[in-house]
This record gives sequence, structure tokens and C-alpha cells, in this order.
Amino acid sequence: MAGSTTESLRQLYEELPYPNVPLEASGRNAIDSLYRLSWTTAQYARSRTILPSEGITILNVGCGSGWETLLLAEANPGARLVACDLAPESVRAAERRLRYHGFGEVELYALDLLEVERLGLQFDFISLNDVLYLLDDPVAGLKALKRVLKPDGILRANLHHAYQREVIFRMQEAFQLLGLFELPTPEACRRVREFMASLASDELRAALHWDPKIYSDDGNIRANYLLPGDKGFLIPDLMRMLQEAELGLVCLVDYADWDPALLFKDKALPAWLEAELDKLSPAEQNHLYELICPNHRLIDFWAEHPGSSLVLPWSDEDWLRGRVQLNPILADNAEFRHNFAQAHEKKQEFAMNWPGASRGRLTIPGAQMAWLGSLLQGPTAVASLIEQAAQANQIDLEASQEQVLTYLAGLESFLFVMLDPTPSPDRSEEGTLNSAAKRQLLAG
Ligand SMILES: C[S@@+](CC[C@H](N)C(=O)[O-])C[C@H]1O[C@@H](n2cnc3c(N)ncnc32)[C@H](O)[C@@H]1O
Repeated sequence: MAGSTTESLRQLYEELPYPNVPLEASGRNAIDSLYRLSWTTAQYARSRTILPSEGITILNVGCGSGWETLLLAEANPGARLVACDLAPESVRAAERRLRYHGFGEVELYALDLLEVERLGLQFDFISLNDVLYLLDDPVAGLKALKRVLKPDGILRANLHHAYQREVIFRMQEAFQLLGLFELPTPEACRRVREFMASLASDELRAALHWDPKIYSDDGNIRANYLLPGDKGFLIPDLMRMLQEAELGLVCLVDYADWDPALLFKDKALPAWLEAELDKLSPAEQNHLYELICPNHRLIDFWAEHPGSSLVLPWSDEDWLRGRVQLNPILADNAEFRHNFAQAHEKKQEFAMNWPGASRGRLTIPGAQMAWLGSLLQGPTAVASLIEQAAQANQIDLEASQEQVLTYLAGLESFLFVMLDPTPSPDRSEEGTLNSAAKRQLLAG
């Protein structure tokens, strides 16, 4: 086994499999987490193709107590799931959790991620949540995972943010100085509490992010103030690490929350600022965002073999001949379906979001819910939605097309809906515009 950090981590997660979520808890309504762990969503972000998860092979690295593994199983129906962790006790906890939830067929191994090639498998999707930043050499970790990633595969991982978590990193250094990392867990945690209680003021404790309620749990102290190997990164670090590992960035998983446009007033920006912003690459824009507002604990990303995808924006024609569907994470969620159906029936305004995320909140007016409700039936021809919108809202086809394409494009930009631009050959005529109407729209 490599360096002493690896050994400290193995001991920590042997004692305290992470996270400490009750065995019975289900992830079915953790929609934001399911979104992050959905192969179909990641592939759509990467290649704008809708690929079902049935039959794919997924690797969950550093599975901990199996919460992430359970979410992967729930987000990717029909996939073969393999999971590993450094700590055998974490693997046993994961096994218990998966068996409890009826996913007994998941294959689990006590294995260092640097040795994943020993599994003898290639993976469509690799997920490692809250793991990469713990490694002595994250680039070596990325290289090992790249070797088992299929040519069209996607790797999803994250890094702690250097500035958002700066206080915790400082206090880890302080507790190193005070020798707490050398002590057995209960004694080290007791001393952290005593240290915080000894500070001169509540203001100082708050500035160090101390919350006695949260940190009455030793596990939370170990996961933050006493976490061995913890490190912080910025977007340029991520870009450099991917380059060294010969991987390409697809995009940040919550890309919409990293847009510098969110940080400025809606009013027109000074011309020089607008011009400078336009010159920045997507990664530079994300870096600008983190410099101004480091509010994300994690830099969560999807990566691929470099240059393996090329995404062009959809044309109006793609939309008009294509079919659109809800993201399966939403379509398969009973609560979402119920609320969406109600808003559709009553033509009520509906707030689209990934619950738990700030990203992509879109408010759909009731008039648009009148036709969007059809998406609950499954993939639907855009042409049919245009006709439904025209009828429901008593408008002509041209106005209806503009509304439908505007709302669908907005929903698609946050991955709430997905477009399949190729009409299927066996599709019935139902829901397609008659050719005269189509010519009229395309000409318009
Ligand atoms: C913070 S926990 C995250 C658990 C899980 N991924 C989640 O998000 O719920 C980190 C996990 O990574 C595992 N780990 C750390 N280094 C590893 C390595 N080199 N190989 C495999 N697992 C590792 C630890 O044992 C621990 O279970």
C-alpha cells in the first residue's frame, strides 16, 4: 500500500464508513444526486445523444458505505454495477446497504483505485465522489481510471474547492501543528471540541465554521477538521490535471451554477466587460466565477477521452423534425410526475429545478404547461407539441413554434429535457405537422 496518507484513510474509513446514512434510507427522491450520477444525463451533456443505461457497465470507486452506489443503481436501471473501496469495512457496509435495497447483484471489492485494472473490465461510466482530492497523487488516480474507461466512456469525479473550504484547510494545518492527527479518533475529536470551547468568542468559533450540533458527531469532525490527505483545487488545477492524465473536460456537472453572468446585474454591462467576458473560454469563465464567488464546496466534473465528442448546437430544423423527452431522472420520479401532471391539468405555473440544486430554476407559465404535460406520456414529436400549444393557447402555428422552441431550448439547456433529432422511420404520422404547415414554419 502506498504512502502513509493512504493508510490513515484506510483506517479512518475502516472505523467510520462514509457517509453515515441509515441503511433504510432510499435515494429515490435525491433528485439532484441522481442527476449527477446518471449515465444518460452525462452522455447527453457529452454527445447530445440519448443513451439508455440498460446493459452498460459502471464502476463506483471509493464507494464508502454504499450511499453513492445505491444512487448509481437507482439512477441507471439495468446497468451492471461494480464498486470498490480501500477499506474492507466500508465495502461490507456497502454490501449490506445494496442487499437491503434489492441490489444484491452489485459486485463489490476491497481494492485501491490505483489497481482497478486488476478487475479486468472496461467501463462506460466511472464515478468517484469525494475521493479524488484525498489521493496523494490525483493525476496518477485519473490515469489509472482512464485505462479502464471505454473510448466513449465518461468519468465523473470532484475536487474540494481551495477557496470555499479554505477555513477547514487552515484548521487542519492548525490541528496538525497541535499533534491531533497522531491521536486515536475519540481522543482527537475530544480535543477538537475542547479547543473550540476554549476560543475567546463565538465570533471566532463561527469564523472557523464551528457548529457544536454538527460536530457532536465524531464522524463529522473526522470528515472535516481531521480529514487526512484533504486538499483544495481551482479550475486551472483541474484543467492541468486532466491534461496531464490525457483526459478532456466535458463540462462541470453543475455548469449552470458556475456562469459569471449570474454574478452581474441584469442590466447591460459596461462594454469593455462584455467584450472581455466574450473572449474567455468556458473554463476561464468558470475560473472567473470562482475568483469572484467561491461558493461551491466541490468542483464536480464529467471527463472523457480527449476530443471524443463534438457537440454542435441544435438547429431549428433539428427541433422541428425531432422528438423530445423528459430527462429519465425526472420521468421516473413519482413525486415529480404527480406535481407536473397537476400543473398541466390545472394549467398552473410550474417551477422546474433539480431539487437540492440552485442550478437551472425555470418557471414555466401555466399556458406552456398546457402542452408540456404531454411529455409525461414519453418521447413526443416537437411538431405535435407545436400543434397542441397552438390549440391550447389559441395562437397561430408560427407563434406557437416560437414559444415551444424557446421553452424547450431553455429546458434542454439545464438538461430537464432531451432532444432526439432523428425522426424514427416507423413513427406514425400522428403528431407530425402536415407538410404544408411544416414548410410554412421552416420558411418562417
Ligand atoms: C469521503 S468518502 C466518500 C464515499 C462515497 N464515495 C460517497 O461519496 O458517499 C471517501 C472514500 O474513498 C475511499 N478511498 C480513499 N482512497 C481510496 C483509494 N486510493 N482507493 C479506493 N478507495 C479510496 C475511502 O476509503 C472512503 O470510503
